[in-house]
Amino acid sequence: MIIEPRMRGFICLTAHPKGCEQSVKNQIEYIQSKGKIDGAKRVLVIGASTGFGLASRIASAFGSDAATIGVFFEKPPTEGKTASPGWYNSAAFEKEAANAGLYAKSINGDAFSNEIKQQTIDLIKADLGQIDLVIYSLASPVRLHPTTGVLHRSVLKPIGQTFTNNTVDFHSGKVSEITIEPCSGYDIENTVVVMGGEDWSMWIDALKQNNLLAEGSTTVAYSYIGSSLTEAVYRNGTIGRAKDHLEATAFSIKDSLKSINGNAFVSVNKALVTQASSAIPVIPLYISLLYKIMKAKGTHEGCIEQIQRLYQQRLFTGSTVPVDEKGRIRIDDWELDAEVQNEVSRLWAIATTDNLLEIGDLEGYRKDFYNLFGFGFEGVDYLADTNEMVNVDSIK
Ligand code: NAI
Ligand code: NA
Repeated sequence: MIIEPRMRGFICLTAHPKGCEQSVKNQIEYIQSKGKIDGAKRVLVIGASTGFGLASRIASAFGSDAATIGVFFEKPPTEGKTASPGWYNSAAFEKEAANAGLYAKSINGDAFSNEIKQQTIDLIKADLGQIDLVIYSLASPVRLHPTTGVLHRSVLKPIGQTFTNNTVDFHSGKVSEITIEPCSGYDIENTVVVMGGEDWSMWIDALKQNNLLAEGSTTVAYSYIGSSLTEAVYRNGTIGRAKDHLEATAFSIKDSLKSINGNAFVSVNKALVTQASSAIPVIPLYISLLYKIMKAKGTHEGCIEQIQRLYQQRLFTGSTVPVDEKGRIRIDDWELDAEVQNEVSRLWAIATTDNLLEIGDLEGYRKDFYNLFGFGFEGVDYLADTNEMVNVDSIK
């Protein structure tokens, strides 16, 4: 069948298996071009199928020859319907890993559940014995709490006051003002339950109790700070409270790993186009201006470049991991560069539907968005009949 992008609002309903494969191959090639990384050898990535998590899995496997187990929540293909992109990415990753002689297995299911944690524990016991690095890279709008059975939903809202600012519909290029009402009720608590650190520490506890964390092992979760332009809706909003909680959790995990000389970090990453970030109001306008400026400066990075730098220049340098005054690893340094931020602010004030194509990188935004679903890659024949990958033995 010939697969075309089918958009509904901010999501794409279809994904292209060959394009996703190309995306994975490009990321592998990038990692290989940067040379070997003296990193962890047995790696568990939770949220391994797209975005920063996929990049982490690729960087571990193809930078450090690591055995990887990936956990994610993706839709396999069904009759007449394509799989979700993360499923194709993972199928392609496993194929490439197998070709390279690297161990790679995946578990597809709800990482918040006890069942998936148990399944992962059993797989580690059976195949790898212990883990040296746990990357926690989940982005989810909901979490079914495993002990209470309550389904929590996260919200992306300001706290305390209504927020009005510009945003862009990146499909049409229309810049308009948007008003977001402040959160109410249990919005903050629910967002913290979904995107805070509780599940991360549950994973680490479960692994530790089963003696599956090797001496000196490390765990890393990803956070975001961003600019003053987005802080009302991001860092000072409901999601920011969840990130505060995640960052605080790094310290409690670090304490709990003292007995095995382990370590826990949060890495603050750069704003990038992913399925998660496209849904956040105001962020697409910010990203399209940011991309333009960072590309002109030569400091633009995607997920794979970010994680390559995280591994090679922060985590696995052979000496102490550099952190900020709050103990966080920073790879958002180039995004938050004063010159870059001043320029974003200047352009933000004058951005309109008429000039955004010129002063911002709307094209780059759209390309990245299509790329998430496997569309728009060079070297892929999108008019060819695609024989979908329907069965991958190693994805359980
Ligand atoms: P993404 O949407 O690309 O990836 C999310 C991953 O979580 C996927 O592998 C998905 O399958 C998995 N997942 C979601 N719900 C799950 C569930 N219930 N069970 C198992 N797996 C599940 O997201 P992205 O952007 O890579 O985000 C990862 C982390 O990085 C998040 O903590 C996010 O806040 C953070 N981050 C994102 C930035 C951005 O601009 N995209 C910037 C800085 C940090
Ligand atoms: Na991810």
